[in-house]
Amino acid sequence: MFSTLNALAPDPILGLIALANKDPNPNKVDLGVGVYKDESGLTPIMSAVKTAELSCIEKEISKAYIGPAGPEEFNSGIRELIFGGQHSALESDRVRTVLTPGGCGALRVGAEFLKRCAGDATIWVSDPTWANHLPLLGNAGLKLAEYPYYEAGSADIKFDEMMSALADVGRGDIVLLHGCCHNPCGADLSETQWRELTSLAAKNGFLPFIDLAYQGFGRGLDEDAYGVRYMAEHLPELLVASSCSKNFGLYRERVGSLSVVGEKAAQSDALLTHINNVVRGNYSMPPSHGGAIVGEILADQALRQSWETELAAMRDRINRLRVLLVDKLTAQGATRDFSFIAQQRGMFSFLGLSVEQVEQLREQFSIYMVGSSRINIAGISQANIDYLAHSVAAVLAS
Ligand SMILES: Cc1ncc(COP(=O)(O)O)c(C=O)c1O
Repeated sequence: MFSTLNALAPDPILGLIALANKDPNPNKVDLGVGVYKDESGLTPIMSAVKTAELSCIEKEISKAYIGPAGPEEFNSGIRELIFGGQHSALESDRVRTVLTPGGCGALRVGAEFLKRCAGDATIWVSDPTWANHLPLLGNAGLKLAEYPYYEAGSADIKFDEMMSALADVGRGDIVLLHGCCHNPCGADLSETQWRELTSLAAKNGFLPFIDLAYQGFGRGLDEDAYGVRYMAEHLPELLVASSCSKNFGLYRERVGSLSVVGEKAAQSDALLTHINNVVRGNYSMPPSHGGAIVGEILADQALRQSWETELAAMRDRINRLRVLLVDKLTAQGATRDFSFIAQQRGMFSFLGLSVEQVEQLREQFSIYMVGSSRINIAGISQANIDYLAHSVAAVLAS
């Protein structure tokens, strides 16, 4: 049986991490992997997380199962974080939320749930999108299609082309949207564009599935949820996958959530039974530890304040680095306008380099990024930014 399978090619990002780790150059810069890093290159444990974790360990009196939906404290806390406390969909009790193993777990459970709702459905994803969207959604049996999103030349969104492509998508099909901090391109829909897209969804009847993996990393916790909140207010149905990997720094604990917005409270109850059933048939129940930490932080005023302050510092650091990188590239005489980097949000932007230029940066300068020239802005620091800007300018000039 097993002999029918040959080894797969290594995952490009994991391969890149291994290469960077092996590189003895003391000036090496790793902009490949998608985790937040601080000035010293560390992915820190947030202090609110440390405190909440200790308190959870103290309080926990049992390791019995927590049920497929996860604990209510987490579910209600994260629901309010995503939708905002006063949201009409919460007031009319139309939203049900479950704890999932990371944002990936939420995307996969969501995809299997959608397959159950509409067996023949196509899910439209942005071109480009996060590479892992394809297996997470496609392996659940949804058909995949792409809508135009990012224009490399102008480094901006091709909104008109996107809207024309989606004009033909109707009831029974799904459109996957990045709630904020688009991965990989960093170009987000404006509030006006979210509203136009919502009108199109209302008119045509397609279902938006929003991936909110970076809430708080772009403009702010509320600002980054604008699209989710607007759509939930104006559409009868919506699906939202969220991740606590980045904004709580809980990557390896695997914490995320899936929220379904139904037309009426009773329908949302029925939808929840299906989501729980999908969970039962997958991993049965989510792990408890990370969700308990998030639940504790969101329910405790002091912890929440400390978390929000630390998150704001991470966001501000990324946004400052964006501006600084543009300045440094200009000062190094880069023969291209990089000002778009300062306007984009989240951890990622494309530098707009060719595969050969990306290779040259790696081989000559020990600067690591994925072949598409997507960089993790958080991998930049005061210590390496001059070297990075100099190297990019040198490669562009060669
Ligand atoms: C766009 C996007 N969605 C979802 C995720 C899922 O993250 P996780 O499963 O680690 O919570 C990520 C992580 O990098 C992401 O970039």
